[in-house]
This record gives sequence, structure tokens and C-alpha cells, in this order.
Amino acid sequence: MEARDCIMGRRSIRAFQDRPIDAELLKKIVEEASYAPSWKHTQITRYVVVTNKELKDKIGDCTSAYPHNGEIIKSAPAVVVVTFIKNRSGFERDGSYSTDREGGWQMFDTGAACEAFCLAAYEHGLGTVIQGIFDRDKVEQAIGLSEDREVSCLIPIGYPAEEPVAPKRKPVDDLLTII
Ligand SMILES: Cc1cc2nc3c(=O)[nH]c(=O)nc-3n(C[C@H](O)[C@H](O)[C@H](O)COP(=O)(O)O)c2cc1C
Repeated sequence: MEARDCIMGRRSIRAFQDRPIDAELLKKIVEEASYAPSWKHTQITRYVVVTNKELKDKIGDCTSAYPHNGEIIKSAPAVVVVTFIKNRSGFERDGSYSTDREGGWQMFDTGAACEAFCLAAYEHGLGTVIQGIFDRDKVEQAIGLSEDREVSCLIPIGYPAEEPVAPKRKPVDDLLTII
């Protein structure tokens, strides 16, 4: 697939077929996503893929601020809990911040990784939706996340059962300034 087709054709998918995802395919997608850039090549992003129905439903219940996210998680064959190893990206070896962004580069890195993950998934026929509204503490407890890690976002994933039209984009003139 051409990069342009992949970037412009990917959509957020919120309805999925009742069809499991092969573990080898998930490995391939994570391998491809691992080529995303990261702060000083720290590669802090870690993916926890939950297919177990009981645990997936429990994560789906951690979306009190926007229950629709939980319904999507429950209807997908898997949800990816995107996590990162804390205090590396954007930090010096002595633990001080490298820039005035402080810990912000950690989420920046997982964002770059998630886009690569979603594009790789799309090329392999899978649909994804990045979710930012959920109860982070509860999700971290549900998967028994260790203290040195933090959850960045959730990504329900599966074979699409819808073909959404691309939401309208802002014109390039609004987005670009060349000085
Ligand atoms: C950081 C981030 C958080 C998002 N959170 C949610 C969410 O909680 N629930 C949801 O349904 N979509 C969520 N989205 C998906 C956006 O709504 C979607 O990307 C946007 O409407 C553009 O549609 P497209 O991805 O099909 O191009 C999120 C996207 C990003 C990048």
C-alpha cells in the first residue's frame, strides 16, 4: 500500500466483526510499529493486548466519563492497552527533565508509536480507534501494571464492520505557515 493511501485511508473504527485476531499478526503489527521514532531512541512504548473476555469487559467498565468507549471495547475482539516505561523519554540519566516539556515527551512518543501501530494495523486489514477517555487508575489496576509503567491510551482493534467516511479536514492554508 502506498504511504499516502495508508495515511489518508485509515479511519477510526468503532464497530467490529466477531472474528479473532491471529497472535502472529499482532506481533507483526507491533514489529512494524517499533520503527516509529522515539526520544533518544528510548523505545518506551509497550503494548498489552487483552483478548480475555472477562478482563476486556472489566476494562470496558473503566470508561465512566464516556460509556460509549466501553461499549466499543466490549464489542471488539481485543483491546490494546498502550503503556510506557516512565522517567526515560525526556529525562536525563540523573532523573532531571531534559526540556521545559518535562514529562510530556513520554506521551508524545506513545502518540507517534500509536499512529504507526494504527497505520500498520490498517494495512493488514484491521480497524482501530485510539481512546483517550477512560479511568486510567482503574485500567492500570485491572491489568496489574507495575509502578514503573503508565497507561497512555486504549486501542480497541478488530476486523472492521463499518466503513466510515473521513471526517472533514481543515484546509491546508489553515494548517501550514511557511516563513
Ligand atoms: C489522542 C486521541 C484520543 C481520542 N479519544 C477518543 C475517544 O476517547 N473515543 C473515540 O471514540 N475516539 C477517540 N479518538 C478518535 C478521534 O475522534 C478521531 O481520530 C477523529 O474524529 C478523526 O477521525 P479519523 O481517525 O477517522 O480520521 C481519539 C483520537 C486521538 C488521537
